[in-house]
Amino acid sequence: MCRIAVLASGRGSNLEAIIQAWKAGELGGEIALVLSDNPKARALERAAKYKIPHQVVNPASYSNREAFDEALIEVLKEYQVELIVLAGYMRLISARVLQAFPWKIINIHPSLLPAFPGLNAQEQAWQYGVKYSGCTVHFVDEGMDTGPIIAQRVVPVLPGDTVTDLTDRILKEEHRLYPQVIRWFAEGRVILQGRKVLIKGE
Ligand code: GAR
Repeated sequence: MCRIAVLASGRGSNLEAIIQAWKAGELGGEIALVLSDNPKARALERAAKYKIPHQVVNPASYSNREAFDEALIEVLKEYQVELIVLAGYMRLISARVLQAFPWKIINIHPSLLPAFPGLNAQEQAWQYGVKYSGCTVHFVDEGMDTGPIIAQRVVPVLPGDTVTDLTDRILKEEHRLYPQVIRWFAEGRVILQGRKVLIKGE
């Protein structure tokens, strides 16, 4: 069974969706660890509620980036995780961590990449006036939201939408998409070919 770590900095609604898929037998893997950089993350409470092992690796507890990265790698190795799922983890993953887990780290982003990378993607899209937005699951590389795209879901931007309306519509799709992509990984169906990602059988 594919051992999964979910990394989250805040609310953890994507974590919750992944937990629900797991409980329903639809994840294909097991959540071995929930890890946060933020001791106050609600994601940690959710993990505790479901008795999932959870840890904090807080950058404030380390004197420099290298020490933080090493601590992160150590915990992830200790739990023997095979897939690292960033779910609202608001911190760039360094080259050192990427090298420790080559092409084993994925992220969900609330826009149709490569449009609107970075923070507040939903608001960026809303301000820009696009007619469609959505969410993207992608491999993490050294850039900001630049890694190979695994899957995307599109939502319309409707006349009269507030940023909150759009954010909620995208979030609903995130909650559907992320467990599905994790399942593809657990089934060994995600094949990286250069920048292109092939899903076997899709
Ligand atoms: C989600 O919308 C996720 O796509 C976004 O943060 C939110 C976390 O919500 N991630 C990013 O913007 C990463 N750049 P959650 O904590 O309720 O899952």
